[in-house]
Amino acid sequence: MLQFSSLILSNDEIAPHYFHMVLKAPISSYLPGQFVMIKVNNTNIPLLRRAMAILSWRDEELEIVYKAIGLGTKELSKRAPGEKLEVIGPLGNSYEIPDGLGHAYMITGGVGMSPLMPLARALTKKRIKTTLFFGGASVTDLVMRHEFSDLGVMVIPVTMDGSLGKRGLVTDVMEEGFKATKPDPQNDMVFTCGPHAMMRKVYEIAGKYGLKTQVSMETRMACGTGVCLGCVIKNKNGSYLRACTEGPVYYGEEIDWNARLD
Ligand SMILES: Cc1cc2nc3c(=O)[nH]c(=O)nc-3n(C[C@H](O)[C@H](O)[C@H](O)COP(=O)(O)OP(=O)(O)OC[C@H]3O[C@@H](n4cnc5c(N)ncnc54)[C@H](O)[C@@H]3O)c2cc1C
Ligand code: FES
Repeated sequence: MLQFSSLILSNDEIAPHYFHMVLKAPISSYLPGQFVMIKVNNTNIPLLRRAMAILSWRDEELEIVYKAIGLGTKELSKRAPGEKLEVIGPLGNSYEIPDGLGHAYMITGGVGMSPLMPLARALTKKRIKTTLFFGGASVTDLVMRHEFSDLGVMVIPVTMDGSLGKRGLVTDVMEEGFKATKPDPQNDMVFTCGPHAMMRKVYEIAGKYGLKTQVSMETRMACGTGVCLGCVIKNKNGSYLRACTEGPVYYGEEIDWNARLD
């Protein structure tokens, strides 16, 4: 884990409210699903860093994509190239690619696609067949879908307003797809990141077909390094797991899906 002051190289709005930021960063290796904690300005408001999935980190450039929805991300969207930000990372565990994986099914919504991009890179490099069910309210929420296609991922767009692909919920289209193609429970696996309700549904559908699901839990985080216990998730046995260190990626069966995430 590194802690560094990072020069902003670019911070571009790639779709309404979605920003792609490139930061100068020391060379570091990272794994798909890991994240960084970023201090969004040099004041005490907001005090806490914000967790951002690593979209890419190579050649001394760290890339993230974020949606400007609240105090922290709106502040981040005001930062300009040439300014510096305090960054800690890479943090957390990662998605696992099991030996002999046959077909990887990725399901996401909006900015949840970010940790799936390095996973898609790793999967396609190993020539593992990869399908992405990509959902959003509208076509503008399906950011970076062409980058997934360019990697060789089969992208299935789903929008609530029908502006691209099938109209409706990404989980309904995932279920239709599974009914039609009958995934292989021995060799195929599901990977997801996105809203809690979506991931729960993804886990339930995958379970019906006997597939295991790896979920990335985007809880609220404070320290990001295992100290404050602000990010805990209840597991099936009633104990608590720190999403920043034991996570953010878990197998779906580890999680108590009925517990509240605050
Ligand atoms: C491991 C990890 C990786 C993440 N990666 C990304 C990423 O790549 N891009 C990105 O845009 N965001 C990512 N997030 C979420 C991010 O850290 C912020 O929490 C989120 O962007 C909102 O921050 P904010 O300061 O703008 O909003 P706040 O002002 O803190 O909150 C605004 C609203 O958003 C809700 N909210 C805040 N955080 C979350 C959350 N984590 N999940 C659901 N609702 C939330 C709040 O309840 C509130 O209604 C990640 C979170 C984690 C834990
Ligand atoms: S965010 Fe502090 S322990 Fe996880």
